[in-house]
Amino acid sequence: MEGTYVTGSVEETKDLAKEFAKELKEGITLCLNGELATGKTTFTQGLGEYFGLDRMTSPTYVIVHQYPINPPESLIKTFYHVDLYRLKNYWEIRAFSLDELWSEKSNLIVVEWPERLETYLPKSRYEINFKTLGADSREVTLKLI
Ligand SMILES: Nc1ncnc2c1ncn2[C@@H]1O[C@H](COP(=O)(O)OP(=O)(O)OP(=O)(O)O)[C@@H](O)[C@H]1O
Ligand SMILES: [Mg+2]
Repeated sequence: MEGTYVTGSVEETKDLAKEFAKELKEGITLCLNGELATGKTTFTQGLGEYFGLDRMTSPTYVIVHQYPINPPESLIKTFYHVDLYRLKNYWEIRAFSLDELWSEKSNLIVVEWPERLETYLPKSRYEINFKTLGADSREVTLKLI
């Protein structure tokens, strides 16, 4: 699913994420770009709800949260929510061995502040951009590259 969408509430951003999640293949990385409070974590929570996860909090302080996906029919077995906001350079990021995560096909990896990783991101990935339009409205652009 690609395109540009405008949401008018937290619930609508989560609903968009759930629509998007329906078509997601295993082994994909989602890069969530956008300024503070544009809805990156909200969108991730919507994805999590689609996979049956209901207690997702922002991993800003721990960098990576890992959630098992339980339904046996799901090809995605582990959901990683990564927030690089507090990391300063690639060497700090290496400590988390993120490159090992890309190589496991059954992982879904969602990265907030992916620009911290620059050229080390997997070549094939979704670039998702968030923009604040007004108090309750956000523009979300989904693109597979
Ligand atoms: N349409 C909308 N979609 C998502 N969030 C919205 C919307 N309208 C208002 N908001 C508000 O914007 C904020 C979004 O917060 P969220 O944590 O998802 O942002 P973020 O991009 O992850 O920020 P950060 O860069 O700090 O991690 C929340 O306070 C939420 O209530
Ligand atoms: Mg966030």
